[in-house]
Amino acid sequence: MSGAQKTIVALDNMGKTQTYEFLESLPAEIPWIKIGLEQYLAHGKPLIRDIYEKYDKRIFLDLKLHDIPNTVAKALGSLSNLPVELITLHLSGGEQMLKAAQVVRNEKMDHAQLLGVSYLTSLDHHDLQQMWAIQDTKAAFTRLFNLALKTGTQGVVCSAHELETVKECEWKSGKSLIKVCPGIRFKDEIKEGNTTDQKRVLDPESAFQLGANYLVMGRSLTQARDLSTRVTELQKIEI
Ligand code: C5P
Repeated sequence: MSGAQKTIVALDNMGKTQTYEFLESLPAEIPWIKIGLEQYLAHGKPLIRDIYEKYDKRIFLDLKLHDIPNTVAKALGSLSNLPVELITLHLSGGEQMLKAAQVVRNEKMDHAQLLGVSYLTSLDHHDLQQMWAIQDTKAAFTRLFNLALKTGTQGVVCSAHELETVKECEWKSGKSLIKVCPGIRFKDEIKEGNTTDQKRVLDPESAFQLGANYLVMGRSLTQARDLSTRVTELQKIEI
């Protein structure tokens, strides 16, 4: 399997026309795309169905659900008729919320895997300390990851820099989850310091080597000068 087949392109900051133009130019070697809150709120279910039918893409719907258990369960239920295979929710919604989500997933939509978001990579030590008095971010991440394991959540979204901690937790529990990593930049972009607003980035090859099952890549692909060369780079990675 090649790295391209396990790379998910984040379709951010694009209008509808731009989205379709980009999809026309996206080589078939990349089968996955990610739709975020922005696109979903603007264009809703028709966009998702259209992308699935016209472009034959596999879809990750990144809505990061977070509410009381009943509301999240109902919200997931209303997504059950969509052709999406990965859906996000916040692990910090707690055990009951995660369990309620699993019940709906198992009953109505087992074509989809639920991915727990630990804490957002946009939050730094200061934010975590300010909001939850968190001093030890590794311990905080470990607690959230163990909650994913306990509630049967199928996977997690985490920084590739957290994969070592993930490995420790998985080893201790004897279980393995799907690991999806954003914050990825090509080696030459990192070397040139061209990492935009992502603070802790890693290159695709290293992230796969550390155990990522899927990578999420946005601007490095959507704003690439030469998209097909970038896709070829990903194809050369053997996983
Ligand atoms: O353009 P870039 O590659 O930075 O895009 C990364 C994508 O991954 C964006 O859609 C962003 O919302 C998402 N993401 C992230 N960090 C997380 C969770 C999701 O960057 N912790």
